[in-house]
Amino acid sequence: MRILVTGATGQVGWELARSLAVLGEVHALNRAGCDLAAPEAVAERVAALQPDVIVNAAAYTAVDRAEKDEAEALRVNGTSVGVLAREARRLGSLLIHYSTDYVFDGEKPAPYVETDPTGPRNAYGRSKLAGELAVREEGCDHLILRTTWVYASRGQNFLKTMLRLGAERPELKIVGDQWGAPTWARHLSDATAQVLREAQGERRDGRFVSETLHATAGGATTWHGFAEAIHRGAHELGLLARCPVLHAIATEEYPLPAARPKNSRLDGSRLFERFGVRLPEWGPGVGQCLEELTPGR
Ligand SMILES: NC(=O)c1ccc[n+]([C@@H]2O[C@H](COP(=O)([O-])OP(=O)(O)OC[C@H]3O[C@@H](n4cnc5c(N)ncnc54)[C@H](OP(=O)(O)O)[C@@H]3O)[C@@H](O)[C@H]2O)c1
Repeated sequence: MRILVTGATGQVGWELARSLAVLGEVHALNRAGCDLAAPEAVAERVAALQPDVIVNAAAYTAVDRAEKDEAEALRVNGTSVGVLAREARRLGSLLIHYSTDYVFDGEKPAPYVETDPTGPRNAYGRSKLAGELAVREEGCDHLILRTTWVYASRGQNFLKTMLRLGAERPELKIVGDQWGAPTWARHLSDATAQVLREAQGERRDGRFVSETLHATAGGATTWHGFAEAIHRGAHELGLLARCPVLHAIATEEYPLPAARPKNSRLDGSRLFERFGVRLPEWGPGVGQCLEELTPGR
């Protein structure tokens, strides 16, 4: 099985190259190898590789920058995703594509299920929703995996920022009224590998149905709770000399260009029901990721 992974230098893409290696021949392409800002070049690249499976982990993920750069975000997260789907249909390949809780408005008082109405609150969310719609419209065999609050030991993310700020400052103000599930990129990529294997089996048996599924860590916390867990875990591992004092603040006290949903919780029951896959609770992933960042571990 030939597997094309885009976004090879990203948090999820990097992990996918490892997780999918046991399933087939992985071609993990970085931005230079497959630039989603140039949709027609994307088509040529896919046509040249003729993959059996495309896993699209590339995305315009600069949420605040997207507010001023929506056309580019739409080209990368919408138009080019449609091109990947078109090529997948032409080749008879499976497309696995990642999306986000940001397609929802965050007003629901409970975890979102896949069938809940969408209503993105910012440009990034609109561009990711455009990608979802483009995939469904092209009609290739596909799975759209919506995830949340991704972090990894590499790349730019909240965990890395908290480690840096925790070492620099004795006190920090962290948003405490947005809820979600911090998801370790490795757990997501391992889950993707299992889903891919099952999905290929279903396709071989002629019982595959394209679907959108929620794939996030179990449980939920706030950014404040996530920060606390990062600092506590880092302190225990000797990565931080002492834990900073954390003050929970309201979203309004930390204004950003892009509005964020208050509720980012996604219900993962359907993923378990269909594929028997459930991502672990969010806490253990934080500990394992921190261990990876600890010298000598
Ligand atoms: N991060 C989160 O919290 C989060 C939450 C929900 C959903 N998601 C979704 O999960 C998926 C994986 O995200 P991630 O966390 O791995 O993001 P990431 O670490 O920001 O990685 C994104 C990757 O996309 C690449 N990329 C950006 N623009 C590109 C372009 N024009 N052409 C080709 N590649 C391009 C980046 O390349 P460079 O390295 O060259 O910049 C990077 O490798 C995405 O679909 C994202 O929308 C992420």
